[in-house]
Amino acid sequence: MKVIGIVGSHNPEGNTAEMVSGFLEGAESRGAETSIFILGKMEINPCYACEACRGGNGCIQQDGMQGLYRALEDADHVVLGSPIYFDHIAARTKAFIDRLYPYYQNRRLGLTQTIIQTYGWDQPGEYAEPLEYVRSRLKHYFNIETTGTLNIHGTVGSPVTERPEELERARNLGEACVGAQGSQ
Ligand SMILES: Cc1cc2nc3c(=O)[nH]c(=O)nc-3n(C[C@H](O)[C@H](O)[C@H](O)COP(=O)(O)O)c2cc1C
Repeated sequence: MKVIGIVGSHNPEGNTAEMVSGFLEGAESRGAETSIFILGKMEINPCYACEACRGGNGCIQQDGMQGLYRALEDADHVVLGSPIYFDHIAARTKAFIDRLYPYYQNRRLGLTQTIIQTYGWDQPGEYAEPLEYVRSRLKHYFNIETTGTLNIHGTVGSPVTERPEELERARNLGEACVGAQGSQ
């Protein structure tokens, strides 16, 4: 089984990356092959809306998304992490979703996903809307089924590196994801 992690943050050691990494470690411990993409460290342009991909030959932009397209097509599961910026998913995460436009026509990407969201506000259970947005839109447009979510609050006062129980939750979810789909 191949699992890829996508981190919609600039920070490779930030809360979102730590949670996504924890998930991948769990998946790896059950035999999955994993890789991680930190969007903030890659050149990922916004969609140009040129409509060229409607011709069926993919995106014309030769940026970091090309490697991500290949990884997505090869993967069985994606763990998509985003920080909350001003009450919604971060712009990098949205740019990534917009760049899935080449798959819009056949409306299918053959993988499942886990969504991880981190936010600073010390109030559990907030920001259900962006979580639901990612779940429902990726299902609607690409038939990606969400098998798990983690919504991590209070990261400004208490970063996840100081919260082993949250990292453990990510790890457990990664393990369970391989258990659910098998290790091949
Ligand atoms: C520009 C910006 C906007 C933010 N907006 C919110 C917000 O609306 N609500 C919130 O709870 N936290 C907000 N935060 C805090 C981040 O969501 C939080 O620190 C997150 O865990 C950062 O993830 P990272 O460590 O992976 O970069 C914001 C942070 C930044 C930099």
